Amino acid sequence: MAQDNVLVEVTGLTKYFPIASGGLFRKKVTELKAVDGVTFAVHQGETLGLVGESGSGKTTVGKCVLQLHRPTSGEVIFKGHDLASLSEKQLRAYRPKLQVIFQDPYESLNPRFTAYDIISEPMKLHGATRTECRERVAELLNIVGLAPYMAERYPHEFSGGQRQRLGVARALALQPEFIVCDEPLSALDVSIQAQVLNLLDDLQRQFGVAYLFISHDLSVVRHISHRVAVMYLGKIMEIAPRDTLYEKPLHPYTQALLSAVPVPDPRVEAKRQVILLPGEPPSPLNPPSGCVFHPRCPKAFEACSSVVPLLNDDRDAHFVACLLYKSSWP
Ligand SMILES: Nc1ncnc2c1ncn2[C@@H]1O[C@H](COP(=O)(O)OP(=O)(O)O)[C@@H](O)[C@H]1O
Ligand SMILES: [Mg+2]
Repeated sequence: MAQDNVLVEVTGLTKYFPIASGGLFRKKVTELKAVDGVTFAVHQGETLGLVGESGSGKTTVGKCVLQLHRPTSGEVIFKGHDLASLSEKQLRAYRPKLQVIFQDPYESLNPRFTAYDIISEPMKLHGATRTECRERVAELLNIVGLAPYMAERYPHEFSGGQRQRLGVARALALQPEFIVCDEPLSALDVSIQAQVLNLLDDLQRQFGVAYLFISHDLSVVRHISHRVAVMYLGKIMEIAPRDTLYEKPLHPYTQALLSAVPVPDPRVEAKRQVILLPGEPPSPLNPPSGCVFHPRCPKAFEACSSVVPLLNDDRDAHFVACLLYKSSWP
């Protein structure tokens, strides 16, 4: 994809949460490095998948991009403006263009509001009239595959898949250019997941909206993403075009993640060797030195415990942060 249609450009993003530790009287505040120096771009109309195990910092990245969490440092450039340096008041002008779809639509939808109230709320806040709201709500329900008469229903009267469609309709209300989809399928039955995935795909084709698609499910991410970024302990380990990443992963962590995913082709599946990683991901309160993955890495060598690898272009827009590759040496 051409560089000139970059929509969101994230550079050196960090988010450290202060954590109180120590005894009752000797309070010490340490930092939990939820996101630690993350750099990536999302182009207009593109889907960037963000994968990684639970706790790797995906949600925090999404919230920092949207300024729902204020980053500790780093830039989030949207159409030439650094959102991270804007005040809440200045941000208001950008909020309509940047939306979010959450994992559990039930938690994010007010149970006392009808579908009409839920979808029209952002429009009302931006000064739409009653007539405009009515027309737009009917249009949006139609767009997401719900019937106009459902406008009078409450969230509990919808099925899980319908509720997620409602969440999508609300996110679309103000014609966003960028939507963070944070595990949008994880609360849904497998049979419903494909429908919502196809809906998101259709909407992108129709409206040219870009997605940051967060998921721990590598198969889902493969289906919808143009490019994929792999996170581990607050850092991006690898970013590449979708097929490149799935077919020729360079990072030992990506290789291990992918080795655990079943392959539809029975001949390939028969030869699949699962790479088992020792131990659990370490705590972001006390991340390992050097490459944060080195204590679990089957290919680690001496330098990995002291040298921090850089996320650099190894070849053809394939970025990897691993000392096995020359490009990652500082
Ligand atoms: N508000 C918060 N305060 C303190 N720690 C947090 C907060 N939100 C997330 N974390 C921690 O940051 C790390 C990354 O969390 P998160 O971004 O939710 O990861 P993921 O979405 O990949 O599961 C985790 O260790 C989590 O416990
Ligand atoms: Mg999360």
